[in-house]
Amino acid sequence: NIEAQNARESLYIVSEYAANYFANELWTGEQGRAIGLSYFKERGFREDIVKKFQLGYSPDVWDALIQSAVAGGHKEEYLEKTGLAIRNEKGKLYDRFRGRVMFPIHNFTGRIIGFGGRTLKTDKNVPKYVNSPESDIYHKSNVLYGLFHAKKAIREFDNCYLVEGYADVLAVHQAGIENVVASSGTSLTTEQIRLIGRFTENVTILYDGDAAGIKASLRGLDMILEEGLNVKVVSFPDGHDPDSYMHHVGAGEFKKYIENARKDFILYKAEILLKEAGTDPIKRAGIIRDIVESIAKIPDDIKAAIFIRECSGLLQLEERILLSELNKIRAAKF
Ligand code: CTP
Ligand code: MN
Ligand code: MN
Ligand code: MN
Ligand code: MN
Repeated sequence: NIEAQNARESLYIVSEYAANYFANELWTGEQGRAIGLSYFKERGFREDIVKKFQLGYSPDVWDALIQSAVAGGHKEEYLEKTGLAIRNEKGKLYDRFRGRVMFPIHNFTGRIIGFGGRTLKTDKNVPKYVNSPESDIYHKSNVLYGLFHAKKAIREFDNCYLVEGYADVLAVHQAGIENVVASSGTSLTTEQIRLIGRFTENVTILYDGDAAGIKASLRGLDMILEEGLNVKVVSFPDGHDPDSYMHHVGAGEFKKYIENARKDFILYKAEILLKEAGTDPIKRAGIIRDIVESIAKIPDDIKAAIFIRECSGLLQLEERILLSELNKIRAAKF
């Protein structure tokens, strides 16, 4: 439908305009340079990375973008439809993003479809990130932040690193690893996993080393297994995320770490669960069921059999016990 296509085109164009506006503010604006650019510098991000991801700054003014865009011939309607502008009850239009560093979100063909904006304040009452809403060009559940910049490397290395956030994608790139994406702004979806599956069968989860990150990694790995992809996990010590850890140990060490600390999902899950269970035999029995439940999600029987064998070695249990558990779980599913 040509009309819908034209309407979408207008949303892409105004998003592109906004990205250029924010980048220009970052590099040449007084506030942008003093606050935005120095923020990225202080966090240890190199200029080539800031440029590559077209990062920007939204001035701390009610309608800076709107003023500029309208003067440039852009319609308010499209600013509203992308969520760049919000209309209040009095009918007045104001900028969604104000006084934030800006991360444009690209679709996998490289067009800008939305933004994440990070506050520079440490005030806990201010949301850390504000994101573009869903629109006719931005469907969060099937977008991966960084995919456009990662897809070539994902194919080349036949692996995709999966991180939580915008800054993690930048940091991993800065360490020289380009096959990395984030599920930013939503928890991981099946559509996002299928999108990765168009480029590789291998996913390595690099979530934050905090309680939320560990919980999300366990949920994520089951979803990835269910889609028939292979999954490994790297965990980070002391509550670090990939971004903080990369800046903490440096690019070289970071690269070595994620190559060597990579764990098969069974080992990862077993370690977490065993730590939680301690010596309680009933809890330990629960772990076995929990791990076999993950294995039961693997659609390929041969792969599942290989993991059962691995699990048997790891937990010092006879394979046939695990196999009967696997069959029970599978039977219950149908
Ligand atoms: N996120 C969000 N809204 C929030 C908090 C988080 O959309 N209020 C999303 C962002 O995409 C963020 C990701 O979830 O990048 C991970 O969140 P978190 O670990 O809290 O932030 P970091 O990415 O580590 O952010 P930073 O390093 O800038 O503090
Ligand atoms: Mn987190
Ligand atoms: Mn984080
Ligand atoms: Mn953080
Ligand atoms: Mn972080």
